[in-house]
Amino acid sequence: MPSILQCIDCGQQYPINQVMYTCDTCNGLLDVIHDFSESKTKINRELFDSRLGTLDPPYNSGVWRYKELIYPDLDNDKTVSRMEGNTNLYPLPRIAQFVGVDTMYLKHEGENPTGSFKDRGMTGGVTQANVLGMQRVACASTGNTSASMASYASRAGMQGIIFLQNKQIALGKLAQGIAFGATCLQINADFDRNLELVREVSERLGIYVLNSVNPFRLEGQKSIIFEVIQQLKWQVPDWIVVPGGNLGNSSAFGKALFELHQLGLIDRMPRLAIIQAQGANPLYKHYQEGFKNFTPVKADTIATAIKIGNPVNLQKAIRTLEWTSGVVEQVTDQQIMDAKAMVDGVGIGCEPASACSVAGTKKLVERGIIKPEDTVVGVLTGHVLKDPEATIGYHADQLDHIVPAYRNQMLQADDNIDQIINLLSDRIPV
Ligand code: F0G
Repeated sequence: MPSILQCIDCGQQYPINQVMYTCDTCNGLLDVIHDFSESKTKINRELFDSRLGTLDPPYNSGVWRYKELIYPDLDNDKTVSRMEGNTNLYPLPRIAQFVGVDTMYLKHEGENPTGSFKDRGMTGGVTQANVLGMQRVACASTGNTSASMASYASRAGMQGIIFLQNKQIALGKLAQGIAFGATCLQINADFDRNLELVREVSERLGIYVLNSVNPFRLEGQKSIIFEVIQQLKWQVPDWIVVPGGNLGNSSAFGKALFELHQLGLIDRMPRLAIIQAQGANPLYKHYQEGFKNFTPVKADTIATAIKIGNPVNLQKAIRTLEWTSGVVEQVTDQQIMDAKAMVDGVGIGCEPASACSVAGTKKLVERGIIKPEDTVVGVLTGHVLKDPEATIGYHADQLDHIVPAYRNQMLQADDNIDQIINLLSDRIPV
């Protein structure tokens, strides 16, 4: 049977080529559902291992390597890809020590073509836009989605339109949207309102929406999990820890793990921990209250990527928490920036939101939920160059309400050899 769209609440089904994001009957979120029954015997670890290192498109992409799990019926010629994925999974003893576990890996999604995990979802979403023959695509964004969409839309010859919040877009991300030739609208509204606006405007003008409410985005993002598990030689870690904003990744991770388990590619489910910034914690509060009566929050955090108060994928994220016996934790901006300084300091770096994975793991170890002997995979969602202002502000001790615990202070010297030697003589390399 071909893949279909299916409402996660009422189960209503729709053809895969219908332009829709929520159920016409009950307004629930939609899944792309694949029928694995016929291909089940062909989908095995060897198939995906045999494609490692291939030069042939689309399988040279770390998303389309898993095509059978993402979009089995897709005509390969329709794929819009930048060979995304194939990101490193770093074993990091110094980070493990910082958070208090024996083994910690960080999956660096900032190593994607536009510097964030969004490229994995965007190849899925823009490919579907191509299948549907769309000429204009749009998104609201805190910066990374727009950078990625601008790139993929341009590659596909489509007009990308991005709705940006009026304040606090990290410079690296803003620059990418403009550079890749998207139509950039800076709107006097926050991310949550911009998402409502882009959906309404796109409906009226026949534009395809590429926020993570689009289920094809989430199909692509499942590949983060597939790749982690494959890089671990198909062994399952005890925990996977991910930042939560609009909750697209959390939702995609749950579906990916559910499907891997269903297909017998893994023999047990890892536990998922979703980490939110304390100033943008609607899921955390909802989780604490036993998922009764959701209330959005007015978001504010230095991790501008996740400055989101009304996450669109809330119901899918709750489903993920059920499937994975998951937990939700919150961390302060101080904890985020200190964890970021640690990740930066081991030489791989990340943007502030990504550091939630490390700060959150540390907090969950301190609370006794993650055990020191557990194997943890944290996901770094964005590249260190995305938000240079936050990094420099931290090390220059110029951020409001943050005291840099791991400061790398810039030294100043005159054109004077003795002074320079004097300055360097105190510094022992680590
Ligand atoms: N980390 C980074 C670097 C992000 O850019 C985002 C989301 C997240 C984490 C949260 O992921 O929404 O799947 O829970 N950024 C979106 C954007 C909202 O517009 O770029 P999520």
